[in-house]
Amino acid sequence: MSFPKGFLWGGATAANQYEGGYLSGGKGLAVADTLTGGDGIHNIPRKFIVELADGTRATFGGRDEIPAGAKAIVDPDTYYPSHVATDFYHHWKEDIALFAEMGCNVYRLSINWTRIFPNGDDETPNEEGLKFYEDVFKECHKYGIEPLVTIYHFDCPLHLANEYDGWVSRHTLEAFERYCDTILTRYKGLVKYWLTINEININTNFMMNGVHEHISNKQNAEQCRWHLFVGSAYAVKKAHEVDPENKVGLMIAHGASYPYSCNPEDVWAEVESAHNMKWFYGDVQVRGYYPAWKVNYLKREGIELKKEPGDDELLREGTVDFYSFSYYSSQAIAAHPEKLGESAGNQTHGVKNPYLQASEWGWTIDPLGLRIVLNEIWDRYQIPTMVVENGLGAIDKVEEDGSINDDYRIDYMRTHIQTMKDAVEIDGVDLMGYTPWGFIDVVSAGTGEMRKRYGFIYVDMDDDGNGDLSRSKKKSFGYIQKVYKSNGEDLD
Ligand code: BG6
Repeated sequence: MSFPKGFLWGGATAANQYEGGYLSGGKGLAVADTLTGGDGIHNIPRKFIVELADGTRATFGGRDEIPAGAKAIVDPDTYYPSHVATDFYHHWKEDIALFAEMGCNVYRLSINWTRIFPNGDDETPNEEGLKFYEDVFKECHKYGIEPLVTIYHFDCPLHLANEYDGWVSRHTLEAFERYCDTILTRYKGLVKYWLTINEININTNFMMNGVHEHISNKQNAEQCRWHLFVGSAYAVKKAHEVDPENKVGLMIAHGASYPYSCNPEDVWAEVESAHNMKWFYGDVQVRGYYPAWKVNYLKREGIELKKEPGDDELLREGTVDFYSFSYYSSQAIAAHPEKLGESAGNQTHGVKNPYLQASEWGWTIDPLGLRIVLNEIWDRYQIPTMVVENGLGAIDKVEEDGSINDDYRIDYMRTHIQTMKDAVEIDGVDLMGYTPWGFIDVVSAGTGEMRKRYGFIYVDMDDDGNGDLSRSKKKSFGYIQKVYKSNGEDLD
């Protein structure tokens, strides 16, 4: 047997892309609730409507810098995909039953911070929100499904973003610590697997972390990162104190990256890119301190992190139990990328790799890259690892008879699970589990689209909010069920 007994097979979602019920049960607004839809194939970004300091309105792209003092708003005449999303809030029992039928023994979901603390920094938590997740976790256990909970997944409370510049501010970190105390204590015994900050290496911008000036102001970007690291370490330490049985992982977008050629300049460009994009975040959360190159960079740039006494110690004490990451694609890195053609990816960009095909959204499809990444993580850190996101975003066609024949997705899953298996069986990587992304259709984080679907379960909802939200099984549902029920032995 290649996958160990008790291997965790499941799927992953995030509250802001799946839950809907954006103001139900006492929930407050998060930044994600102010993001419009976009169109990834035609490169039309998601947008924010903001009120500027002088009271006028302006529109910005999701990844743009937003002027200091501007406040994102919900405009009554604009469509916001997260407000209903695919409505887990009203379908959770039905959906969890489907996950069980699929053969899942783990379900990765995130808690929406603003369901617990509507403004992020309220004095007392919202009991209705706490109860909602308690019921969800109990329902999972009914079927022998272990919840794997992401504490923070792209859902900075809007109040903290608008009034405090999000994670640039110590105030946001302190509010986050209170939020951690509340959920870790409340769900003791119900949840034992936790992830701290989703894709901590992806951007410091308003969309992800409520930061206004994150490009022109490097100090802001680095301060935001520092607070995220301290917040993550706090969560790990607290989780261990609350219950020594808790296991806590980091969460990094960790695609494969290759030098474009054997020209040492390309090789070095890849080393620098991997430092900046991946290893910095892994090193801090696994080893507990900033690597030398980063310390030198901060000095060179004249950036002085504002720290409180005890922060450095906390970073060392709050190192993670396992290395969990998202893997979708790979990128080729060149020292001189001009003229080589850009390739899209999980919010990172390299140049086109002539050896690989790409998805409709331009994300390269590279199953062997997953084995490469699993090996590099295991070789570097020697702690258990887990693939907590992986999958193919594609346009699905519903046939007359209602069937959805997503063989392209089955191919993607088969080839990626095979390389995971090779990593375990041949390379000896300590892999704990696999939770493919959006195993039920959810709103795309990057583009706000519904048509970019990852699920094995289809949800009737389109890019404009039309659809009855009914659930149906795609062909891939049967495939993944067979894989899960055979503990990864039957991949044909
Ligand atoms: C990761 C995120 O970036 O990739 C998810 O953790 C996201 O939230 C997923 O949905 C896929 O990206 P996208 O843009 O296709 O939704």
